[in-house]
Amino acid sequence: MKHIAVVGVGYVGLVSAAGFADLGNRVIALDINEERIKGLKKGIMPIYEPGLDELVERNVASERLSFTTSYPEAIKGADFVFIAVGTPSGVDGEADLKYVKSAAESVAQVMDGPLIVVNKSTVPVGTGDWIAEIIRTSQPKPIPFAVVSCPEFLREGSAILDFMNPARTVLGSQDYEAADKVAQLHLPLRAPIMITNLRTAEMVKYASNAFLATRISFINEIANICEELGADVKEVSTGMGYDARIGPYFLDAGLGYGGSCFPKDVKALAHMAHEKGRHPQLLQAVMDINDDRRRLIVEKIREGVGDFEGKVIGVLGLTFKPNTDDLRDAPALDIAERLLKDGATVRAYDPVGMPGAAKLMPAIEMAEDAYALAEGADALVICTEWNEFKQLDLQRIKGLLRNPILIDGRNIYEPLYMAELGFTYLAMGRGYNDGNPTNG
Ligand code: UGA
Repeated sequence: MKHIAVVGVGYVGLVSAAGFADLGNRVIALDINEERIKGLKKGIMPIYEPGLDELVERNVASERLSFTTSYPEAIKGADFVFIAVGTPSGVDGEADLKYVKSAAESVAQVMDGPLIVVNKSTVPVGTGDWIAEIIRTSQPKPIPFAVVSCPEFLREGSAILDFMNPARTVLGSQDYEAADKVAQLHLPLRAPIMITNLRTAEMVKYASNAFLATRISFINEIANICEELGADVKEVSTGMGYDARIGPYFLDAGLGYGGSCFPKDVKALAHMAHEKGRHPQLLQAVMDINDDRRRLIVEKIREGVGDFEGKVIGVLGLTFKPNTDDLRDAPALDIAERLLKDGATVRAYDPVGMPGAAKLMPAIEMAEDAYALAEGADALVICTEWNEFKQLDLQRIKGLLRNPILIDGRNIYEPLYMAELGFTYLAMGRGYNDGNPTNG
């Protein structure tokens, strides 16, 4: 049993805190946001993440997990402190490190014994060295410490599963012994553990996210071509995925990537390259293709309903992906904004994202469910592939719509079946097999 302090109770911090507590460690999670900590002490999660409340509750009950806003309380006697604070995009796409800096300073000021500082926040390559420098200069008296980079690879919506079953643990440090101690913490997870230097570990995180984003933009580019040539991108990606060198993952064409990670991390990596005088042409193309998806679907909607003025468009799904309440860089919000700007009335339904979206975009009308959404709408647009949208009563939906137009930004339905039902069905990169290459 180790004593671990975790700074930051966002997705990464809270899931790691609860996960390490569940593995038998004593964990104190800290956040400077008093509301969040007050809520957590009462069992209220600051985020929607399947299984998280049970995991937190169980570990709080067994006194392995607690919450505080006090640095001295969290750091006193700790063997490890995990930094898991936000690194939002700055004005030029660079990662803004103000939260990392203040966490490092606060830790340095209160540490009372040798400490291993593990950075989990996604930070530009070289930040680990900078954190070490901040700690060194902020300590009231010199106390030994080491900085280890341990990038997080969990996904929102399956964060607990990902924490407990990681594909790998990547650790980077100039202090091998410290990295090895962090490795011991991860042993129960039974995943391959790689120890490398600080900067390489930091780069593994950016390169992994950028690669996954590249796959998504790649398949979206293929989708555009499929659409022109009458091929079906969904089947193309299935066919490609059987090749073990390619694999089936992250090849779903649609609205492109959103969320709090890929957009910010690809931008930050490109920024790092620019700063060093390199021209990250591929990363630039990945970002351009991704931006274009949102414009393209609005054009598809226009193709279906004509001029937006006076039209009611129903948006199914608001969050950037299913099983999360996260609306950061969600394609749906961007699309809604464009529709509103061009004179449409936008109505939406999302199983968990509506309260947050109502605050961000009060102009969107919220519907009680998918059927209420369809009633009298000129078209429905699927923006998030929540499971509950996959088996809707489509006959009923068709009867409720003013025009039976369904634009599927996530390719969850089959074009031929939708045509049989009498829908005008426009999907992303799916040419019909009827020989008419303009159907897509
Ligand atoms: C992503 C990575 O998958 C995690 O490994 C990483 O730890 C995390 O970022 C992070 O850096 O914190 P996440 O943003 O939660 O996780 O979501 P993903 O499941 O990766 O999806 C990202 C976006 O890509 C979503 O908007 C999703 O709709 C889109 N996507 C994903 C596609 O458009 N097509 C696909 O085939 C897959």
